[in-house]
Amino acid sequence: MHKRWIAALAGSLFAAASAFALDNGLAKTPPMGWNSWNRFGCNVSEDLVRKAAGQMVQSGMKDAGYQYIVIDDCWQVSRDGDGNIVADPVRFHSGIKALADYVHSLGLKMGIYSDAGSATCGGRPGGRGHEFQDARQYARWGIDYLKYDWCNTSTQDGPSSYATMRDALADSGRPIVFSICEWGTAKPWLWGASDGNLWRTTTDILDRWEGRGDKYGAGVMDIVDMQVGIEQYAGPGHWNDPDMLEVGNGGMTDIEYRSHFSLWAMLAAPLMAGNDLDHMTPAIHDILTNKEVIAVDQDSLGIEGRRVHHASDGWDIWVKPLTGDRKAVLLLNRGGRDQSITVRWSELGLAADKSVMVRDLWEHRDLGAKTGEFSAMVPSHGVVMVVTQ
Ligand code: GLA
Repeated sequence: MHKRWIAALAGSLFAAASAFALDNGLAKTPPMGWNSWNRFGCNVSEDLVRKAAGQMVQSGMKDAGYQYIVIDDCWQVSRDGDGNIVADPVRFHSGIKALADYVHSLGLKMGIYSDAGSATCGGRPGGRGHEFQDARQYARWGIDYLKYDWCNTSTQDGPSSYATMRDALADSGRPIVFSICEWGTAKPWLWGASDGNLWRTTTDILDRWEGRGDKYGAGVMDIVDMQVGIEQYAGPGHWNDPDMLEVGNGGMTDIEYRSHFSLWAMLAAPLMAGNDLDHMTPAIHDILTNKEVIAVDQDSLGIEGRRVHHASDGWDIWVKPLTGDRKAVLLLNRGGRDQSITVRWSELGLAADKSVMVRDLWEHRDLGAKTGEFSAMVPSHGVVMVVTQ
């Protein structure tokens, strides 16, 4: 009786939460694309964005599922006499509309950045007090995705600030993915689904394996640890966002970048490449376009993976349920030495005597049927990622 009561309560709470979830029909799977910030910072221009969009197509990334080309901070310089936001006339000499038209002509979508406060993190004009005006402008330009930051917000309230922009975007008449970027400050996983399609869960990612920056930022392992316990808030149309990818930016080894990418897929995270697409090594290209790993991220069930094992001697096991009664399993070696890692069927919720087919997603190879457990040698800071069926 007691159990039934709890189940009924949980069911109605879930129904209530779903009723309040933003339903703009967008981001049914985690958004995929490219964002200028991690590699280029404020050094953005229409030439850079055009090049990135072209490379997205030529490199095969578009075919692999990447869609949004997002200009991050510093495209904007001022407001005109009527309060309209003004793009940098030198760096974006053709204007944002022409750029968006070009991006659309390649079959891609256009994203842009602003901030809920009085100024962006880069000190450019923020959106506060101009939400409806800006949303209308974005719609006129053909913007499909808005990342909305949280600098210079003083005493503003997170949920209501983001709700204002959500309403403004809805009012603009154009479907625009809404990416909340308030760094996990006010636990956006608790309210983000009613305001946006994705919400940053942490401080900025750093291009390093682990460790915090001097002032802000966190390495990949630190960010991953911060995702544990908030998995249940993600689902189709509303995603936890552990920040954009650093894959290919030079601060980590290819093995570490492969782990970073695999973990983001297990987390059903938005896959926003953040590197120079014009100068990718073959190894980085192969990581970013691994369609089997991307399929784990994009699985239509939209269930975020969970860490089922965290060993003090430095290894994790992550599991993500997939369509077709399959599971993605990630063996992650966080230690300094190569080691053998074993996942037991009990950790996957499977009967010990069940025979299961295992396929390696980085080797692109079927490993045959396994019973009871699966073991693999995993390099230091590396992963073995498989799908079981
Ligand atoms: C914040 C965000 C970053 C980036 C910068 C731009 O730090 O978290 O992702 O958008 O601002 O200034």
